[in-house]
Amino acid sequence: MSFSYKNQSLHAESVDIADLMQSYGSPLYVYSRTDIENNWREFDSAFGQHPHLVCYAVKANSNIAVLNVLAKIGAGFDIVSVGELERVLAAGGQASNCVFSGVAKTQDEIKRGLEVGIRCFNVESAAELERIEQVSASMNMQAPISIRVNPNVDAKTHPYISTGLKENKFGVDIDDAIALYETAHQSEHINVQGLDCHIGSQLTDVSPFIDALDKVLALIAKLADRGIEIAHLDLGGGVGIRYEDEVTIDISAYISSILDKVGNLEIILEPGRAIVGNAGAFITKVEFLKQNSDKSFAIIDGAMNDLLRPAFYNAYHNVLPVRENAQGVEASWDLVGPICETGDFLAKDRQLSLSAGDYLAVMSAGAYGFTMSSNYNSRPRVAEVMVSDTAHHLIRKRETIQDLFNTEILIND
Ligand code: LLP
Repeated sequence: MSFSYKNQSLHAESVDIADLMQSYGSPLYVYSRTDIENNWREFDSAFGQHPHLVCYAVKANSNIAVLNVLAKIGAGFDIVSVGELERVLAAGGQASNCVFSGVAKTQDEIKRGLEVGIRCFNVESAAELERIEQVSASMNMQAPISIRVNPNVDAKTHPYISTGLKENKFGVDIDDAIALYETAHQSEHINVQGLDCHIGSQLTDVSPFIDALDKVLALIAKLADRGIEIAHLDLGGGVGIRYEDEVTIDISAYISSILDKVGNLEIILEPGRAIVGNAGAFITKVEFLKQNSDKSFAIIDGAMNDLLRPAFYNAYHNVLPVRENAQGVEASWDLVGPICETGDFLAKDRQLSLSAGDYLAVMSAGAYGFTMSSNYNSRPRVAEVMVSDTAHHLIRKRETIQDLFNTEILIND
């Protein structure tokens, strides 16, 4: 992990975060290139010589500099919109290494995917298969597809990010999958490539993954009996990270338990959070300290529009002072933003010694941080910086006030 204290100041790799704040202003997302690369390589190398593709889930952090760093080391990409596809292409990624997930791909998205030659569409329903077939027929092509099956296993994660249960909107019921594969197999404009499943996000236990794997392998065997060959198995993303004190999945053990079961079948994975989550931090400044008889509030310049996870999922992010052992007011602080919502907090009850003007690092914010940010309360979205050893690069400019209403139009009457 590349975030650590040196000379009593928190560093990202060899760069002092306090210096970054002087250069780029506050609040700020900071990422470590080394961590991103190492995290992807940990997945990739655990496969050894086994045929595989580690497709980074772009939704976790879609900055083109992040995608570019990953494309350069050979990553594939899991995309869920044409916007993500164009980002990958702009970042130098290969369409032929992209799998296209998502429950409602539009005709234009399918067309563009076929035009640029994506690796595979992960189909989520019979209606979507029909649409893909129509678009592909109109272009006189064969669309490569996988069917995303819902194996009905409980990922035992937050209900908002659990996707593999029957009651979720995702994928095709495992019992209906054979019929849909038969339809796909018979179409001249569909090329059946694979089978896909994704059961949820932030899993900290490997057993739901293995339960799902057993179910989909049984399905692949049934398909083979019917003459339908599956060339790759996509097991989705979902590997959890440590936010607090979770004991998470050992990636190489997870991958070797997959390889124990799959023979020579090519494996695709779609990790997002595990690649970028702990490779990023959100840095914010203490504006005011406000204490009443019951509560101690540190009012910070970052808010729920910048990092939504605490407000939305009640998610825990560790908070570290940028200046180690800073002397201030010692208390159990709630870190709250300037937004007019009681739910606008980034952390609660943290024992810290604070003064106005201090910088705080909200850790593990590299995944689903910036990508879920918004302009709520007309707050410009923040800048992003990537650090690599002693170097630092601005990878997104801070939005300006003008940017906020650039695309808005006054009516003239
Ligand atoms: N593949 C598919 C089809 C997905 O839906 C997702 C995530 C992934 C891969 C990547 O999952 P990961 O490896 O990152 O767990 N905003 C939430 C997480 C939503 C995840 C949605 N799908 C959060 O902040 O926790």
